[in-house]
Amino acid sequence: MKTLPSLETRSIKDSCKMINSAPITSNLSSIRKTPPTIIIIFGASGDLTARKLAPAIFNLSKDDLLPKRCFLIGYGRSVISDDDFKDEIKKALDLHSRRKIETPEWEALEKNLYFHAGAYDDISRFEVLEEKISQIEEQIDCKAQCLFYISTPPGVFMPILENLGESGLAKRHKGTETASKVIIEKPFGRNLQSANELNQVINKRFDESQVFRIDHYLGKETVQSLLVQRFANSIFEPVWNRNYVSSVQITVSEDLGVGSRGGYYDRSGALRDMIQNHVMQLLALTAMEPPSSLDPESIRDEKVKALKALKPLVITGDRPEVVRASYEAGLVGGLPAKAYLDEEGIPSDSGTETYAALKLYLDNWRWKGVPFYLRSGKRLAMKASEIVVQFTRPPAILFGQDSRFKVSPNLLVIRIQPNEGVTLYLNSKTPGLETKLQPIKLAFGYETTFGSNTPEAYERLILDALNGDGTLFIRGDEAETSWGLLSPVLDHWESQGKAGLENYASGTWGPLAADKLLLNSGHEWITGKNYE
Ligand code: BG6
Repeated sequence: MKTLPSLETRSIKDSCKMINSAPITSNLSSIRKTPPTIIIIFGASGDLTARKLAPAIFNLSKDDLLPKRCFLIGYGRSVISDDDFKDEIKKALDLHSRRKIETPEWEALEKNLYFHAGAYDDISRFEVLEEKISQIEEQIDCKAQCLFYISTPPGVFMPILENLGESGLAKRHKGTETASKVIIEKPFGRNLQSANELNQVINKRFDESQVFRIDHYLGKETVQSLLVQRFANSIFEPVWNRNYVSSVQITVSEDLGVGSRGGYYDRSGALRDMIQNHVMQLLALTAMEPPSSLDPESIRDEKVKALKALKPLVITGDRPEVVRASYEAGLVGGLPAKAYLDEEGIPSDSGTETYAALKLYLDNWRWKGVPFYLRSGKRLAMKASEIVVQFTRPPAILFGQDSRFKVSPNLLVIRIQPNEGVTLYLNSKTPGLETKLQPIKLAFGYETTFGSNTPEAYERLILDALNGDGTLFIRGDEAETSWGLLSPVLDHWESQGKAGLENYASGTWGPLAADKLLLNSGHEWITGKNYE
């Protein structure tokens, strides 16, 4: 094996000793105490590494938030040299980083980049990886924590996890602050059974505190801010319940189609790709009870409790609570868009849904009887992720009694992206001699208030994983609870083939059946409507 280039070690050795004896802490201010780290990315030649992971790691380093000694080993199946890997990463940073990379920054970074080629099911390549890691430790003369990032297609999650176990990499320095950690990309399983099998393999090899199941929505600034808005303001809690809320709507819409990801997407569909993870996480954060503290387990306990309170969905009969659909050709942003079945890599008889909408109820004191409407789809009218809390109408007296006045229900709209912000719609009198009412908005925009250049979700998530903070990651039981609710729907759809699969024209807001889902309870979708 080739010798690693020598690294500046003298002063580093001393700082390593200091760092390795520091207590484990898990808040942002303590990042400089994070021990020397080796990040190993499985799937290093993939799209996610280029578009998200490499830029996130670079931006963390630019902000001086990485541990003093930090190395990156890309693990991939193609045999490429360290130098070729460095070139790939440089190109990726030039193309995708939110901030420009200057020459001295690149020079500092590239000397700690390596590539390791190997099959994911070949234990001998994991053993050689272990040698490489030990060699880095020898060079810097102190122990380093390994952060394994599994960003491969889901089909090889199992062999990678097994081999991390078999090779001893999973239990390196176990019980110390340099214990290995593992980040697992989505999708976490295809259904309840496969998620459960994955959890079993993980639990055999790692303690839950070493495991970070990623959902990049939790790294978004606006999603984190949801907790602050709910629990750092006293005006919401008294009305955040079935007495004042008439419905909650969560929309995660995309204007893009499946693009070049047809192969993956057709085996997945909207329910697995978006609802089971991103949308259910938004629901859990909106519906959960206040946690007893901000520690990861208190927050995750409350999220799991909210998910467990969800009633099983009505899947069949006259009023099913689930809708699925696939996009037809249409116009998106004025440009022609082809039908899902005509996209690259999609079988002509595919029955995969590109849109899903659900109506859910939580069986608990806070939310009993309040519908939570969820929808997500590709090739919709626009990209928008929003949570809309619709409040009950005021009692039918004064303005509320008279249809002339058009009293609209108050809305709290939390915009996750784009135009991140929060808007509260209230009724107001229009100026003039006549008494006329009109909804007006109290609006807060992140960019206007705080400026742009917010860190990307992956920056926050990688930083938290390095620091051992699991708050913004999915716990094993959380993933299984969410799958437990949705697996019966997937089974039913599979048994039905294409029967019941609706269509919608690209560039619209989805099928009529999804509008009916709300109309049945006297509601309508808010996102995409002009409320002023
Ligand atoms: C991913 C899905 O998890 O999220 C993609 O696999 C989807 O299909 C993407 O496009 C959306 O993420 P964002 O951050 O652009 O809303």
